Amino acid sequence: MQAVILVGGEGTRLRPLTYGTPKPMVPLFGIPFLERTLGRLKEAGVDDVVLAAGYLPRAIEDHLGDGSRIGMRVSYVVEASPLGTAGALKNLADHITESFFVLNGDVLTSLDLRAMIAFHREHGGVATLHAIRVDDPSAFGCIVRDADGRIASFIEKPPRHEAPTNEINAGTYLLERSVLDSIPADCKVSIERETFPDLIASGARLVSYVTDDYWLDVGRPEQYLQAHGDVLDRKLELAPSGDRALSSRGRMWHVGENGAPAYVRLPVFIGEGVAIDPSAIVGPYAVIGDRCRVGAGAEIRDAILWDGVDIGADARISDAILASDVSVGRSAHVTTGAVVGHGARIAADTHVDPNARIVAKAETAASPTS
Ligand code: GDD
Ligand code: MG
Repeated sequence: MQAVILVGGEGTRLRPLTYGTPKPMVPLFGIPFLERTLGRLKEAGVDDVVLAAGYLPRAIEDHLGDGSRIGMRVSYVVEASPLGTAGALKNLADHITESFFVLNGDVLTSLDLRAMIAFHREHGGVATLHAIRVDDPSAFGCIVRDADGRIASFIEKPPRHEAPTNEINAGTYLLERSVLDSIPADCKVSIERETFPDLIASGARLVSYVTDDYWLDVGRPEQYLQAHGDVLDRKLELAPSGDRALSSRGRMWHVGENGAPAYVRLPVFIGEGVAIDPSAIVGPYAVIGDRCRVGAGAEIRDAILWDGVDIGADARISDAILASDVSVGRSAHVTTGAVVGHGARIAADTHVDPNARIVAKAETAASPTS
């Protein structure tokens, strides 16, 4: 079985984290999100993966290479300009020789891919779409199906009051190769807005595979924070333990566990080579990357720090995401939905605005697509 992972989006909703770091390389507990998705595929016996890339592809390729380090075959098809979620598939059709998975690159889920393969074989459509139920379907693709699971209509991001169902497209498809024939070549095509509705209209059999798995699209800061909180709360187990490349580099401490340092309020995750002043307070729900430093009296909770972040004395960090090599001055407050980009410096005593998006000066000038 082959798989395509769609990783060509610019990750605009995660800016400024995605200036310089493509969304699939955004870390989840220190490991790029994409590597965790590849781990799930490998576990399911899918080891031939094509990445449909476009935005900052070199950052992905530099990290994963041909996939041999993680025991997989990874190849890349890079779009000169975004071809859309179906155009991207048509563009790599030469690489596909059999039925194949398509995964949105920003989905965190406990979905059992092997069970989905079995379901697809049993129900025999040209496409099986993983679906889950959510409270507000308006930010997703709505899937209307009959009692047997056959899809009657697919409506991408309907206005909230017009959503016909709360069962939504969870961003994992199993497609027969013939689906590629229905996508026009060399143009921008959306699988959600064009290919699926067109296939349904033509009478093709598409089937919805509804599960109640853990599921989250981590493409926005709130969801990115929530994903870490949920893993710390053990709502979802991450990649198989034992394979270091696919597990965490640091250490997770859960509530009820003995041996956590005194400055820690559980649950937390602390990476390697971290220096925390004993008078600081870290947690609950703090994720501290490798080589971070936390000064005296500082407080960090409900926050994610990537690698090499420096937190000054008496600073307060909460409900915030700080990218790599950020430094926060003495007594500064970074709170309430703030997101700070790579290498940015927050001056001492600054209180950043709620939901602020802060970029380093040098980066503001750089083109986000370069
Ligand atoms: N190669 C390539 N080219 N990839 C793309 C392109 C493109 O032009 N456009 C988007 N992608 C990738 C993104 O990188 C992401 O991994 C995936 O396709 C989905 O794009 P998003 O931008 O994250 O879409 P969304 O979250 O608004 O909606 C999609 O996901 C929902 C579930 O999370 C849709 O598939 C919805 O129907 C679905 O419910
Ligand atoms: Mg998304």
